Amino acid sequence: MKSTASAPGKVILFGEHFVVYGSGAILCAINRRITVSAEAITEKKIRITSDVGSLDMEPGIPACDVGSSLRSLYHIADTALRSHGIPGIKMAVKSDIPAGVGLGSSSACCVAGAAAVSGLFPDSSREKILELAVDAERTAFQGTSGADCTVCTYGGIIRYGAKSHEKIEPGPGFGLAVASSGTTHSTESVVARVKKFRDANPAEFSRMCDAESEIIRSAKGQIEQGETAELGRMINQNQQYLEAIGVSNQTLQEMVRIGQGAAAGAKITGAGGGGCVFALTDGGTGAADAFREGGYECFAAGIDCDGLIVFN
Ligand code: PMV
Repeated sequence: MKSTASAPGKVILFGEHFVVYGSGAILCAINRRITVSAEAITEKKIRITSDVGSLDMEPGIPACDVGSSLRSLYHIADTALRSHGIPGIKMAVKSDIPAGVGLGSSSACCVAGAAAVSGLFPDSSREKILELAVDAERTAFQGTSGADCTVCTYGGIIRYGAKSHEKIEPGPGFGLAVASSGTTHSTESVVARVKKFRDANPAEFSRMCDAESEIIRSAKGQIEQGETAELGRMINQNQQYLEAIGVSNQTLQEMVRIGQGAAAGAKITGAGGGGCVFALTDGGTGAADAFREGGYECFAAGIDCDGLIVFN
């Protein structure tokens, strides 16, 4: 039997890094996807193929000893083998989400992988799949907030809090232009850098966490009412906090200025230190044109309303 599942990438509209310390976040699933298929096999093996490499290993190895970027999928397969007593699993990954640029490729991979493997067995709910996906994401980045896996599972725009999340229905004219700096980042090392900043500047960091929570509280209504200008202002404010905690750089700064000049607002998405920025548009192409004129690859991201899709 074969099971296939697909999950979308994401843009973080508000709250990356601060969400790790409980401030919440607002994320939007985008129309770029990762698809994972899983199949039970009779050999005692975990086999994974993907565009970024492959893995062929015995089961039962602790995830921390799996020296591969496919470690989180190995962990999902190994967990299933232990629970269901079958000998092996093979998985195949197809992605149209670039990796390490703040668009949620690793979370989408964990969610699609957890769903594909769970689909080989009875009784898999979205909640259980999300739990397994976050557990798998932790094998790559121990401190994950879980926000990315949540939006990849449920789709749409969500306000994420540590204990719950809620959907936000956007008003008219909500558009995103996503531009790439051409460099990647390691979420783990940028988060570690932010921790150092926080340890050295506890009062300043705490003030920014409070301000970010306040932005997130009011942004929900602005998204629903399509208040693009006010939302843009808050996005720019959020970008200032990201610059203050040291996750921007010269290239990202230049890109953000381009986006802010051509649209209501622009900021980094994800960990920063490389990767992507986005501009909030009213559906027009001005920001995308400006990014391209500046020499940056850019695409207009649509909202993915489906989240996780399981094809069984
Ligand atoms: O760059 P990404 O897509 O891995 O996003 C990281 C977001 C952080 O807030 C920095 C970490 C987290 O787990 O929420």
